[in-house]
Amino acid sequence: MAFPTETVYGLGADAERAESVRRIFAIKGRPATHPLIVHLASAEDLSGWGKSLSQAAFRLAEAFWPGPLTLIVQRSARVPLEVTGGLETVGLRVPSHPVAKVLLSTFGGGVAAPSANRFGAVSPTTAEHVVSDLGDEVDLVLDGGPCTIGVESTIVDVSGETPVLLRPGGVPAEALEEVLGGALARRGSPAVRAPGMLPSHYAPRARVELVGPSELAERVAAACVAGRKVGVLDVGPEGTPLPENVAVRRLAGSDLDRARRLYQALRELDQAGCEIIYSSLPEERGLGLAIADRLRRAAGPRD
Ligand code: TXA
Ligand code: MG
Repeated sequence: MAFPTETVYGLGADAERAESVRRIFAIKGRPATHPLIVHLASAEDLSGWGKSLSQAAFRLAEAFWPGPLTLIVQRSARVPLEVTGGLETVGLRVPSHPVAKVLLSTFGGGVAAPSANRFGAVSPTTAEHVVSDLGDEVDLVLDGGPCTIGVESTIVDVSGETPVLLRPGGVPAEALEEVLGGALARRGSPAVRAPGMLPSHYAPRARVELVGPSELAERVAAACVAGRKVGVLDVGPEGTPLPENVAVRRLAGSDLDRARRLYQALRELDQAGCEIIYSSLPEERGLGLAIADRLRRAAGPRD
């Protein structure tokens, strides 16, 4: 079953039924060693699903749940190894979307859910995206409208002595640091298994190339001359002259407006048949850090 959260749509199953959890991996085409996030109804569930919890875990849960934050903690015996891909830690999150809240509180247990897209592709931010990605393989899609944040949750590992930011997302790093009272360590351990950290993740079909605003016009013109179908995402000052057959999507407005539009825009450029998408990067603070992270990964090497 797919359901909306404030970040992206999730493909959910009872976290305590190993068989259902295995089906998620099969539908997504995701390697069984890549861990899933367990979604919970309330911050009070933290102690039931995690163990040996740190002060930082409780502080962050209290400050940001329900909301777009995933905490990596030691797993309790309640969490099957199928969910964690064999790890002794588990990702927990209490979403704030009203439909997710009702689903989770009515169900009462934990719902293991990755984003409801095929492995490596752009995450779905509407029910239509889920249907177009996963089609008949999902028996039910709860339609809660477009996601209000539009990029995945921020992931913080609080299972060790120092909290580590593993993935920038819907809660800005600055807000976490304010609650923690100090700078947050950034991910650096290549040993951590997390598909969201693969360079080619969150990628549309088209090749994404990051360019500075000043190079845009020239690069686009060269690609057009070479006969490529070109798309442009949020690049350059208004009015940069671009050939008529270039598909343009601008992510205007606040950081939140941009985050909300990001995946939809990448999908639209794919649908327009673009072979190359040129994009610039936003300033890397607030939600801009998550947007830049996803664009870098979309531009990363494909395997
Ligand atoms: O916003 C979100 O987080 C969405 C919604 C549906 O909640 N979910 C999502 O799930 O993005 P997914 O599976 O696409 O990405 C979850 C990330 C992966 O990079 C995974 O490796 C990481 O969380 N993760 C989960 N458990 C982990 C663990 N124990 N240690 C390290 N990383 C973990
Ligand atoms: Mg995902």
